[in-house]
Amino acid sequence: MSLQKNFLRTLINNSHIVKVPLGNRSYPIYIGANLLKQIGSLCLTHNVARKIVIITDENVARHYLSLVKSSLEKKKFSVHTIVLPSGERQKSSATAEKIYTKLLEWNIERNSTIIALGGGVVGDLAGFIAATYQRGIGFIQIPTSLLAQVDSSVGGKVGINHPLAKNMIGAFYQPLFVLADTSVLKTLPKRELICGIGEVVKYGIILDKKFFSFIEQNLNKALSRDKKVLSHIIQRSCELKAYVVSRDEKEQNLRAILNFGHTIGHALERAGKFASLKHGEAILYGMIAETNIALESRMVSFADKERIECLIQQIPIPSLSSIRLRNADLFETMRKDKKVKDNSIRMTLPHAIGKISLPLNIDERLIDRALDYVKLYGV
Ligand code: GLY
Repeated sequence: MSLQKNFLRTLINNSHIVKVPLGNRSYPIYIGANLLKQIGSLCLTHNVARKIVIITDENVARHYLSLVKSSLEKKKFSVHTIVLPSGERQKSSATAEKIYTKLLEWNIERNSTIIALGGGVVGDLAGFIAATYQRGIGFIQIPTSLLAQVDSSVGGKVGINHPLAKNMIGAFYQPLFVLADTSVLKTLPKRELICGIGEVVKYGIILDKKFFSFIEQNLNKALSRDKKVLSHIIQRSCELKAYVVSRDEKEQNLRAILNFGHTIGHALERAGKFASLKHGEAILYGMIAETNIALESRMVSFADKERIECLIQQIPIPSLSSIRLRNADLFETMRKDKKVKDNSIRMTLPHAIGKISLPLNIDERLIDRALDYVKLYGV
């Protein structure tokens, strides 16, 4: 048996592989412990061309860049690295331009590959560069935050921010594969872990009642980084995301269900200037508010609304009291949401745990009341 086949067999035995079925753009997500050091062999298996550029940030580089780089170099890949300061500010056209300049200076060719090694910011930015440099070059995601492993690295959304709105400039550009090494979560700051849990709770509410129960029963273990629990959570979340993305890659319809909690959540995140609340924390509040709208619209039962609130209550997130929250400002942000159609704010709302609607026009009086409700809840 060849070395490569041997490697694949070992990998399959030691990791879980979720497939994202998208015709000739299908790809696997490899999920497992201590996988980073396999990146060189995996790139050989996927016939990745010799020139690779790793884009990462300072925090992640400190822990994992040398491991990834040496695994690639051992397999004779030629590797350039770009290490950015960490933070959302890097998702800008100014940073993108600096990266294009480097790629041109290094003579990076069309058959080269970009590896995103980092959380959502690095993944979105590096993916945007891969999608646009020479009209598209190879792209691999190595997500290092829970949020990136369960959400942003899967499904091909890549992009940068515009000063007026987040994620407004971008593309759908699928990676060649995703490598989610669960061991890296041990160095993830607690708040970042909680942000990932926010998206995980969302998957339970929108698609999978059994998974929601699993999270209820194992929340403390997840928060204390129990390896088995986190591994199951990542695997199930990726399966659910792959299910949605494979049916509606470009968000014409079904994919919008992944936005549950995001319309109000994003408005809260912006009101806190993207500092008081992190994305996943804001989404947790957003889900409370949007579930309240579902209750007032007689869509979800009081019992299911209570169950959702009770789970979220057990997740430590910052209070809203330090943020200046005026409903008029929140509405202004919501009117820029990508789901807005004919000036109507639209949301996907739960019918029950595990069952969500497609986007619906929402009466602004209900939104107003839900904002008052979440402001009280979050004190
Ligand atoms: N994060 C939502 C999506 O990928 O569609």
